Amino acid sequence: MALQVTDLTISFGGVVAVNGMSLSIEPGEIVGLIGPNGAGKTTFINCVAGAYRPSRGTVQWKGTELRGLAPHSVIRQGVARTFQNVASLHDLTVLDIVKLGAAARGRRGLAAVADLWRGEAALEAELHETVLEPLGLADIAAQPVQTLSYGLRKAVDLARAMASRPELLLLDEPVAGLTVQEGQQMAAVIREVRDRRRCAVLMVEHKMDVVMSTCDRITVMAAGARIFEGTGPAVQADPEVRRVYLGEP
Ligand SMILES: Nc1ncnc2c1ncn2[C@@H]1O[C@H](COP(=O)(O)OP(=O)(O)O)[C@@H](O)[C@H]1O
Ligand SMILES: [Mg+2]
Repeated sequence: MALQVTDLTISFGGVVAVNGMSLSIEPGEIVGLIGPNGAGKTTFINCVAGAYRPSRGTVQWKGTELRGLAPHSVIRQGVARTFQNVASLHDLTVLDIVKLGAAARGRRGLAAVADLWRGEAALEAELHETVLEPLGLADIAAQPVQTLSYGLRKAVDLARAMASRPELLLLDEPVAGLTVQEGQQMAAVIREVRDRRRCAVLMVEHKMDVVMSTCDRITVMAAGARIFEGTGPAVQADPEVRRVYLGEP
């Protein structure tokens, strides 16, 4: 087991946003997390990524407890996340953002010394090859992010996360707001990251065609708790899921 979250619980004031959630992901697995707005999906990601501190539960990642770690420490453990709403209030370029992502992981020991020796140009070449080209961002690497379309900014956010060489990616609605074509490209990149790097992925997403075609397994959340877990066809066939999420009587 790569990630094992057990009994995760967090409240804001009187609202229990996540209530006893458990979820596990195997290495190289893509798990979808779906559910109605307000179900607690983003809060769940925030708890795993260290942005929020859950009041109860454990977040075991490859045998290490992540609960209580700050976000920068979680990234150093190989767990990166993207954001549901991508902000771009700065004039950093695409390459700047991706380099920040790479620096967030850090390297230790001999690898850190090797980085000093090989210098900036070698790092940039590596990031071009491993992140910018696969995401179709190589041609716009020098552009300020705030000049880009929403779809490209979402791709830059994923590029930033990928640059930290994650073994687990937490994606919060990576396809939301994209055109059909951009969405298909994004889904293809996510599958490729898993296939090439054996990276595990937790993907929150509303677009069911993307969820169905990308995820090995799907967990359904409602009101902070898990209500169903199974393969795509099993999720689509479940009467409770259809009622709560897919809006059927
Ligand atoms: N920082 C916060 N402060 C107060 N309430 C929050 C906060 N974050 C999330 N919530 C509440 O937690 C619940 C779940 O929200 P969220 O995780 O964003 O749902 P989802 O991503 O499934 O749409 C909502 O009721 C939301 O208002
Ligand atoms: Mg959300």
